[in-house]
Amino acid sequence: MQKPIYRRIVLKISGEALAGERGFGINQDTLNSIADQIKEIHDLGVEIAIVVGGGNIWRGRNSDQMDRATADYMGMLATVINALALQDALENRDVQTRVQTAIEMKEIAEPYIRRRAIRHLEKGRVVIFAAGTGNPFFSTDTTAALRAAEIEAEVILLAKKVDGVYDSDPVKNPNAQKFESLEYIDVLNRGLGVMDSTATSLCMDNKIPIIVFGINEPGNIKKVIFGENIGTFVKG
Ligand code: GTP
Repeated sequence: MQKPIYRRIVLKISGEALAGERGFGINQDTLNSIADQIKEIHDLGVEIAIVVGGGNIWRGRNSDQMDRATADYMGMLATVINALALQDALENRDVQTRVQTAIEMKEIAEPYIRRRAIRHLEKGRVVIFAAGTGNPFFSTDTTAALRAAEIEAEVILLAKKVDGVYDSDPVKNPNAQKFESLEYIDVLNRGLGVMDSTATSLCMDNKIPIIVFGINEPGNIKKVIFGENIGTFVKG
């Protein structure tokens, strides 16, 4: 039987990936399909920590009429909504989960405690990290990089609507070329929109590989876990 090549992963799910065709909010069918994919690899024994974005509900950085920090805090709250939706979908499939928030909201979820998160993973629970890093000016990609370093994850799976990293926007340019692999430094130098520079630098400094792939194709997370070359592999 095929075996997963990773033991502990951080799966970063962009908010947009939850929105489906409508482009905003949470599409229940899309959520169900993502939860099915997560269950599939959970059943293989992979330890999964999820960092979820919030762009399907609120995009802090696009708001030029609002104080940036305030807009970012609103974005962090959006990620909590997505985290609870994911928790619900996973627990409906009998996958035990714990949500931990970087900003305390104890009535809703546990606060982020690194050692406790690791313990949950060891016990086979999926841990969902919400509210970003708890700081404005840091993206949820940076959260994924930070949490991956903290919990010693072997890889970050960057689940997106597009199926990898391209040399130009594949939505606007039909001739855009997909990269099979990239070095962190290329991402930084070429300004490729894989991750922001803070997140990329953190991965580079801590030697955490990133695999960018499309999550809307069922079975893709499993393919990545088995080491299939889909999407774009970013490393040093
Ligand atoms: P173990 O100690 O490994 O058994 O982990 P556990 O998470 O099951 O222990 P605990 O008894 O701490 O948690 C039981 C339930 O309460 C879990 O669903 C937790 O997510 C939840 N829980 C724990 N701490 C908090 C908190 O501060 N706020 C909220 N809202 N829920 C919490």
